[in-house]
Amino acid sequence: MILLDGKQTAAEIKDELALEVEKIKKNKGKIPHLAAVIVGNFGPSLTYVNSKVKACERVGFNSTLIDLPEDITEEQLLHELALLNKDAEIDGYIVQLPLPEHIDEQKVLMAVDPDKDVDGFHPTNVGKMTLDLPSFLSATPYGIMELLKRYKIETSGKNVVVIGRSHIVGRPISILLSQKRDFGNATVTLVHSRTKNIKEITQKADIIVVALGVAEFLTGDMVREGVTIIDVGITRLKDATRKRGYRLAGDVHFESVSKKAAYITPVPGGVGPMTIAMLLKNTLSANKKLNS
Ligand code: GUN
Repeated sequence: MILLDGKQTAAEIKDELALEVEKIKKNKGKIPHLAAVIVGNFGPSLTYVNSKVKACERVGFNSTLIDLPEDITEEQLLHELALLNKDAEIDGYIVQLPLPEHIDEQKVLMAVDPDKDVDGFHPTNVGKMTLDLPSFLSATPYGIMELLKRYKIETSGKNVVVIGRSHIVGRPISILLSQKRDFGNATVTLVHSRTKNIKEITQKADIIVVALGVAEFLTGDMVREGVTIIDVGITRLKDATRKRGYRLAGDVHFESVSKKAAYITPVPGGVGPMTIAMLLKNTLSANKKLNS
């Protein structure tokens, strides 16, 4: 079994990005600048956003954290985004999800300038992606593609099963893996909560991407020997034996599945760090596009 080490791979990508920043500085160009908008103080979102800002510092990007109160109105939030869209200093930005219930998430994502949409969530970018046109790819699916590429995992002609149909991960990764592209050309089955006999389907898979948000959903009896596993889930499970009171679990029951897998991503240290690295890569692309 080989661990697909997202932490190490992301560190390599960040080193490559830091070199790019050095080149930009030498040429007196504009340093990439990412802004992150967070509404309220939902614990995991704060952790993610802080990691994104820290990653910017590490590669030499500028970053701005826009921390807005939980009770901000939709109109005020849309106004903040309009300012970011106009701000020539900001190359790209993200609005951390989830948003409070009183705010229409779709309306907010539609308000992001597609050229600054480094999360790749705007319908313009999603539409371009589905049509094989250049676009910002959303960071988690992009990170999975990059991990497959850097570990040279053949996908062409393979049976891939994607578990979960979220807009952020399941849907886009199922499209990317089926496209006529490097590390695409797979036969993709997307399974979800209404699928019958998931186990029968996963047992035939060469590669399984699990993005369901249910801790330890995929167990050893559901997979065949030699499978490749990409675990997107990350859930806090109560654990009184830990000082912090919880442990992090993926959507995969690691102990049983890793015994049969040829390749598997750990949680933490698998897909998560790749997501951040690809967000930075998208920010560099936005910077190049806006300043060329
Ligand atoms: N919430 C969970 N994942 C993501 C992500 O990739 N981007 C944003 N903006 N919010 C998220």
